[in-house]
Amino acid sequence: MAIILDGKKLRDKIFEGLKTKIEGMAVKPSLAVILAGDDPSSEIYVNNKKKCAEKLGINSIVITYPSSVTETELLSKIEELNNDKNITAILVQLPLPAHIDKFKIIDAIAPQKDVDGLTTYNGGKLFAGEKPYVYPCTPKGILLLLDEYGIEIAGKHAVVIGRSNLVGKPVAQMLLNRNATVTMCHSKTKKLSDITKTADILISAVGKKVVGENMLKNNCVVIDVGIFRDENGKISGDVDFEKVSKTASYISPVPGGVGPMTIASLMLNTVELALIG
Ligand code: GUN
Repeated sequence: MAIILDGKKLRDKIFEGLKTKIEGMAVKPSLAVILAGDDPSSEIYVNNKKKCAEKLGINSIVITYPSSVTETELLSKIEELNNDKNITAILVQLPLPAHIDKFKIIDAIAPQKDVDGLTTYNGGKLFAGEKPYVYPCTPKGILLLLDEYGIEIAGKHAVVIGRSNLVGKPVAQMLLNRNATVTMCHSKTKKLSDITKTADILISAVGKKVVGENMLKNNCVVIDVGIFRDENGKISGDVDFEKVSKTASYISPVPGGVGPMTIASLMLNTVELALIG
């Protein structure tokens, strides 16, 4: 039976450390979140982020817009936040309404306030193998979880399913920078299980049940980033946990694995950005 990678436990440990650190900071970290449109999951995520920030002593503001918001309105708010000395971190919650060019909006964020590490400046640094101001939250959380359990990365074959800018691409790059051999898989990949069977570390970030029985070799480390409601309304991940946990060496559960680590990383990033001033 696999060992559970407990994201809640590690999140709580990180929060304990952060609380003490923030108490000692002369300039309190301040996180501004922009929420545009009425995506119900985004509203829940943003409320969670705000609650967590406040518990830790991080100032937090949420600026909401209806789905009819214009690019000009968003760009002018970001410019205002970039110039506001009291704001040390900016997050634009995704997805944005369909008529908005998300790349243009994200790239308007000053790189030193880009708490998601998603601007082309920070992404470029990551892809060059240099240090960005901060790393994207979910990939950072995944690596913190692997490190917490002493799971070796260098020389391992890591297979990433999903090529999103938020998770798949940056986590693949971060694993590569840590000397893993990385294979990227996605919706057009042929014979997925031939590839997953060669993984030492499997990361699935798809949002659909894609990893089932007999797709992995014994003792694989399995990281499940997916979170969605299945046909019975139950919270589920990409991986068939019951079956895969019988043969994996480590597995992250859903919920309670990667999700809490994403928020822990967001809080860590917020504090890191406040420290660079
Ligand atoms: N939407 C879902 N996850 C994320 C995230 O990590 N950052 C942002 N900005 N939007 C998201």
